[in-house]
Amino acid sequence: MSIEETEDKVILTHPREPTTKVSILKYGATVISWENKGKEQLWLSEAAKLDGSKPVRGGIPLVFPIFGKQKNEEHPTYKLPQHGFARNSTWEFLGQTSENPLTVQFGLGPENANKEIYNLWNEGKNNFTLILSIELGDDHLKTNIEVENNGDEAFDFNWLFHTYLKVPDVTDCLVTNLIDQKCYDQLLATEYIEKSPMVCFNEEFDRIYKKIDTDKIFQVVELGKVLINVQRENLPDSVVWNPWIEKSNGMADFEPKNGYLNMLCIEPGHVSDFVTLKNGEKWSGSQTISLGGDIKVQSN
Ligand code: BG6
Repeated sequence: MSIEETEDKVILTHPREPTTKVSILKYGATVISWENKGKEQLWLSEAAKLDGSKPVRGGIPLVFPIFGKQKNEEHPTYKLPQHGFARNSTWEFLGQTSENPLTVQFGLGPENANKEIYNLWNEGKNNFTLILSIELGDDHLKTNIEVENNGDEAFDFNWLFHTYLKVPDVTDCLVTNLIDQKCYDQLLATEYIEKSPMVCFNEEFDRIYKKIDTDKIFQVVELGKVLINVQRENLPDSVVWNPWIEKSNGMADFEPKNGYLNMLCIEPGHVSDFVTLKNGEKWSGSQTISLGGDIKVQSN
């Protein structure tokens, strides 16, 4: 069976490669594992809550309709908690949409969103449909989101795939193709142009890279070898995050405590400004994570 549905999860198994699988928790439609030929590619905290009591620490949590916390009191997203409600809502499994590559969909709207949090968004007045498609390829995992405004008024939103990649040792890893991109450093609260030809990790790292041409591929290179490629469609921004020692210590659901060495978040999204969707309109964006290949240096 290529698709197995349990009470709380959906597991896809590649039809010709039984050790290539993806597991999706209905809570948050969170991808919690992607194994390619027996090898796990996503980091999941050993203390992650998988029972719906809080967003999952690891895998691919979904961020909507606000990234981080809104500071502008006048904005309809102001009352929402950090990263919105998509990751704290139980999505509906809509079934399979393609056999090759194996693809399934999940849906979220006001009827199944976490009511308590959803009602904090414009007093529960925004009517929307989110359709998440998850495609399991031979050597890739693609996640696509479609947002539709079914209401009478336009609304603003951010979207982000908060992807926790699993790496053997983050201090041996570099990320390519961010040079000369504008970034907002959340730790320094400063905007500047990234000048590193490849970024490296030896302390806490939390940067929002902005409006990057979607032809640019981010590659995680470990000791000269490409581990992972991240490609984007219609997602111009990307957060790069590693909590390092102190921040990991402060997160109760982050285990083991030295797990920050084995993870790196590359988070494609639309977060440097809002997407404004008028009533009746649709918007979509996707990320594809794939394995291996050659280093592609893409200058401006
Ligand atoms: C990242 C942010 O995307 O998410 C960080 O840039 C934040 O600032 C991190 O700490 C984790 O957020 P949360 O809400 O899952 O603890």
